[in-house]
Amino acid sequence: MSDKIRFCIVGFGNIGHRHAEHILDNLNTMLVAVCDINIALQNKIPAGVAFYTSLQEMLEKTTADVLCVCTPNYLHEPHTIAGLNAGMHTVVEKPMALSVSECDRMIIAAEKTGKTIFAVKQNRYNPPVQEVKKLLAKHELGKIYMMQVNCFWNRGEAYYAGSDWRGKKDKDGGCLFTQFSHFVDILYYLNGPVTNAEGLVRNFAHQHNTEVEDTGCFVLKAANGAIINFNFTTCAYERNMEGSITIFAEKGTVKIGGQYLNTIEYQKLGAATLPPINITAKANDYGLYQGSMSNHDKVIQNVVDVLFHNQAVMTSAEEGREVVRIIEQMYKGVVKK
Ligand SMILES: NC(=O)c1ccc[n+]([C@@H]2O[C@H](COP(=O)([O-])OP(=O)(O)OC[C@H]3O[C@@H](n4cnc5c(N)ncnc54)[C@H](O)[C@@H]3O)[C@@H](O)[C@H]2O)c1
Repeated sequence: MSDKIRFCIVGFGNIGHRHAEHILDNLNTMLVAVCDINIALQNKIPAGVAFYTSLQEMLEKTTADVLCVCTPNYLHEPHTIAGLNAGMHTVVEKPMALSVSECDRMIIAAEKTGKTIFAVKQNRYNPPVQEVKKLLAKHELGKIYMMQVNCFWNRGEAYYAGSDWRGKKDKDGGCLFTQFSHFVDILYYLNGPVTNAEGLVRNFAHQHNTEVEDTGCFVLKAANGAIINFNFTTCAYERNMEGSITIFAEKGTVKIGGQYLNTIEYQKLGAATLPPINITAKANDYGLYQGSMSNHDKVIQNVVDVLFHNQAVMTSAEEGREVVRIIEQMYKGVVKK
């Protein structure tokens, strides 16, 4: 490997641009090529970066160390496997894929090629999440009794209008994959595996523009015995309202809140006091809608730290797979009422 890690990107939409920005900003990385089937995007490619409309052609003609997979959800599996087979590590956007079997095939390809899959779960870097993670690592909350996850966002007409994949059952998968997999991931990151899931879903306000649910309420059981109440909707009126996780435990109650897990909204703790955190200005802003916290600089830095300094992968393929397994379990647990 040269003194800089060479990246290429497939999928140059909202999140592909974000990857490009941070690859260009990082002193240890360079962007060598971008692929998107939309030829009009060629005009937005930074100077000196090659553009392709075929992934196969880009992989054949490009010497790169890492492929960022920023295409719609249903393409994550084939595009990741293509990158691995071309000898590249891959950074794959969330969700890792749309089923556990797709994730398994990706993991097998990584093992065969000796390359690494980095699953993107950038909310793990949110300062409130890191503070609570440290509390849990020091066992300062004691036994976890109950967790409440609230994902109350808004996704309006414009969000679905310009897209040929959002809201499609086979290409998007549903809200738990596209909007709220970050929250499933943080639940898993903080509290470990889920063993049971049962819930109700409805499509209240998006029947004309999606094939999936827009609202759901689930009760989950975690392997450590905690019960979890997981509520989500994309029907919050006109704007995102809340993205929060509250933990009720033997030695404390803490709520990571805000719109996208960006504040410590409440704390009453026996052993410690967390610093006040209220980060308001750092959501991924896509103009027509707001997403999660913008930590993709840290995702790219993790690739540098792993490849240059032998550090740990922030979210491994196995963890990305576990999040998909929980989501699959939740959809399988939908009660038909
Ligand atoms: N981590 C996050 O917070 C975050 C935020 C937004 C999106 N995402 C994820 O990133 C992915 C893309 O989302 P987006 O909002 O950028 O979507 P988008 O529709 O804005 O962009 C997708 C791009 O992929 C291109 N594309 C489609 N098929 C292709 C193919 N076969 N080869 C090459 N290019 C192809 C499209 O032309 C489009 O430009 C999704 O999986 C989404 O879940 C993650």
